[in-house]
Amino acid sequence: MTSTSHMIGLLLGTEEDWPRAFEAILRRLGPVEGPDGASHSFDCERISIEPFDLRSRPRYGLVIDRLAYWYYHPREWLKKVALMDSVYLLNSPFTFQSMEKHAAYCAMMRLGLKVPATVLVPYKNPVDNARYAYTAARYNKSFDLDAIAEQIGYPLFMKPYDGGAWRGVSRIGNAAELHAAYDDSGEMLMHLQKAIDGYDIFARSLSIGAETMVMRFQPEQPMHQRYAVDHNFLSPEAGSEVVTIGRLVNAFFKWEFNSCETLVKGGDVYPIDYANACPDVALTSLHYYFPWAIKALVKWTVFVLVTGRRPKIDLNTDGYFSIADNPDLSYADKLGAYRALADAYFESERYQDFCSTSLGHIDEVVLDWVAGQDFDELLTDTVKSVYPAREHDQFIAHLRGLTGMWVHDEDARLRAA
Ligand SMILES: Nc1ncnc2c1ncn2[C@@H]1O[C@H](COP(=O)(O)OP(=O)(O)OP(=O)(O)O)[C@@H](O)[C@H]1O
Ligand SMILES: [Mg+2]
Repeated sequence: MTSTSHMIGLLLGTEEDWPRAFEAILRRLGPVEGPDGASHSFDCERISIEPFDLRSRPRYGLVIDRLAYWYYHPREWLKKVALMDSVYLLNSPFTFQSMEKHAAYCAMMRLGLKVPATVLVPYKNPVDNARYAYTAARYNKSFDLDAIAEQIGYPLFMKPYDGGAWRGVSRIGNAAELHAAYDDSGEMLMHLQKAIDGYDIFARSLSIGAETMVMRFQPEQPMHQRYAVDHNFLSPEAGSEVVTIGRLVNAFFKWEFNSCETLVKGGDVYPIDYANACPDVALTSLHYYFPWAIKALVKWTVFVLVTGRRPKIDLNTDGYFSIADNPDLSYADKLGAYRALADAYFESERYQDFCSTSLGHIDEVVLDWVAGQDFDELLTDTVKSVYPAREHDQFIAHLRGLTGMWVHDEDARLRAA
């Protein structure tokens, strides 16, 4: 039987926790037999930043990137390997680096999702560029900020059109706060967005390939408590809508590793932030859900490489827009049709079959690893690198408690299966 070896590249910033977890699980998984009986082995290495010849051939079949959003050199390398070498990237660099929150809002409004009313206002202070100053003086029309806010209605959010990590985000309750926030925005380009006030649940979904985990999110809590461990917090309909929205965004933009924020109020699901390609998957924030995330990353990566899934870098907007524009379809019909397109894009059925035939042992591998010494060392090392010494004991106990709970639940699940 033939045997193929695959090299996976990790393009990393400061994080150490999830790459170590990914490397450990991949190593423990060992060779995988494909649907045709051929054997596949996997290795991975961390990519360094070096000069590159645009015609050089990379060593990687697939790259997981958590760096290029922030830095130009690795970003341009990713575009090169995507265009020239068909290296498989989990997120198309042509959309996630150029399409900020704003483009994602536009696309999902176009598809009929319940994105709250949103207005883009011009810069408060013109950007520092001699030529722009001339343009701004000539063409920036003065406008009535209060009238825009009143039309949207208070309360509202002012937030950067791109952004992340709550930079420049503020909740605005009245005209005085509106002007103060706008004055502060300086050279940031801002959206005004209707607040979904008094929502019932903040659901944050993390999608990795064809899998999605919907988690109850508590934005008012400190980082380590934002994800609540809660399993049945949405009605089946709302749960399915949240999953559909996350997968739709991803299939539309060709993102396979992204998180999506939705607010659920009554029977309605409002997406508010879903351009978070390569999101936070830190052990300290995901805790209970960390084993799921790393396992899903390994499974999707192995699926892609073994089945030879081809990377896609062009958008096929027509298929989505023809659903959006069909007057005979209700909102629920459209969601169903989008879900079918997204499932086809992610080859969901083929992926599930692959997981049961070729990756039948991965659940035990991950459980065994999380329950063991290796994982506990990762946990303590991570806490020591993230928190000050006086907080080590507290956070080690906190994370041991939550990941121990996962071990308990997962063990029960596997026994029952
Ligand atoms: N329209 C809205 N209605 C209600 N709450 C909102 C709305 N927009 C933003 N928020 C609140 O503000 C927070 C930050 O907004 P947003 O997610 O858009 O910014 P961000 O900088 O991308 O943050 P992060 O990096 O945490 O995702 C949200 O998590 C939510 O709590
Ligand atoms: Mg957000």
